[in-house]
Amino acid sequence: MAARPVSRMLQRVLRSSVRSCNSGAPVTQHRPGEPSQTAVEELSRRRQFLREHAAPFSAFLTDSFGRQHSYLRISLTEKCNLRCQYCMPEEGVPLTPKADLLTTEEILTLARLFVKEGVDKIRLTGGEPLIRPDVVDIVAQLHRLEGLRTIGITTNGISLARLLPQLQKAGLSAINISLDTLVPAKFEFIVRRKGFHKVMEGIHKAIELGYSPVKVNCVVMRGLNEDELLDFVALTEGLPLDVRFIEYMPFDGNKWNFKKMVSYKEMLDTLRQQWPELEKLPEEESSTAKAFKVPGFRGQVSFITSMSEHFCGTCNRLRITADGNLKVCLFGNSEVSLRDHLRAGASEEELLQIIGASVGRKKRQHAGMFSIAQMKNRPMILIGG
Ligand SMILES: C[S@@+](CC[C@H](N)C(=O)[O-])C[C@H]1O[C@@H](n2cnc3c(N)ncnc32)[C@H](O)[C@@H]1O
Ligand code: SF4
Repeated sequence: MAARPVSRMLQRVLRSSVRSCNSGAPVTQHRPGEPSQTAVEELSRRRQFLREHAAPFSAFLTDSFGRQHSYLRISLTEKCNLRCQYCMPEEGVPLTPKADLLTTEEILTLARLFVKEGVDKIRLTGGEPLIRPDVVDIVAQLHRLEGLRTIGITTNGISLARLLPQLQKAGLSAINISLDTLVPAKFEFIVRRKGFHKVMEGIHKAIELGYSPVKVNCVVMRGLNEDELLDFVALTEGLPLDVRFIEYMPFDGNKWNFKKMVSYKEMLDTLRQQWPELEKLPEEESSTAKAFKVPGFRGQVSFITSMSEHFCGTCNRLRITADGNLKVCLFGNSEVSLRDHLRAGASEEELLQIIGASVGRKKRQHAGMFSIAQMKNRPMILIGG
């Protein structure tokens, strides 16, 4: 069953409720650390409206637990101009031969199919998506897909300042920039390359061009950068950033161990010692982030708690790897090659059956951090975060 496009009226209501959630309008009295009453009511009104008016969602993208997958991440490349310790094994990764990677046409064919079925958000990732020579063209082509409301990119920021004006013109609507330290020498140690100032330039360019918030992804690792949490929060005082502290996750070859992981609760405690008035913001449906704000600051901070408090219950994400595999869970090793079926001439209906079967087999939740650490999976760079 194909999803009907979201009605104009629904889109208007969505936009206005998003505006009012982000409007910075005065909020009623509430306890510190709790979402304000107005914001909570607004969010629950919005959810109620969606339940009553949303068109039926594609059966192919709905799993056996009722989760509707409207968010697709597409990896544009396995290559990267950095070598982050937590993502890329020191010895590098064997790259897939070019002929086995998805072509631009194949990426767009798959994107079109998913959007027709109800995907309304696509994030381009990698490897480093901005090193793909036709990335601006891909964004422009995606922008033409009716029903696609958000086109985002996750980037290490190295080439962002140069490319962002073109990307914005092409229709890029959301940006996540990875930055794990504010100390240039430490940056070189973590990512095994130079480039700190380019990333900062990219962040400022994104702000200048009006992206708000600009999301900054910071993987927190004990002994490496957990001493910089407060400095990152301080950045949000004057800048419209959403600094997202990500719990360190295990992937093949990244030498994860439990002691290196700093949990959300521990990070929150550290922040609260400095800013006891830190306020919890209401959670968006399907959001993976727990968001907080220091009252009066322009930006906010969030935590991605995939390890200590997983959010599998509301997961709405699917991933396509650069070599064309559909991956229904970041921490699962079951994959199906859409590339092979496409190249064998599968019809749209056949592709949908294959996608539907794979989504249908998605597990209720991941197996827990210790099992994941033991499990065979791809290195993160070959998945696309
Ligand atoms: C794999 S990268 C790809 C996009 C781009 N190259 C970048 O770095 O933003 C996507 C995101 O995954 C995050 N990531 C990579 N390895 C991780 C790990 N082991 N634990 C948590 N996050 C990780 C990165 O910090 C980045 O924000
Ligand atoms: S996290 Fe991004 S920038 Fe770092 S090695 Fe992985 S793909 Fe490259």
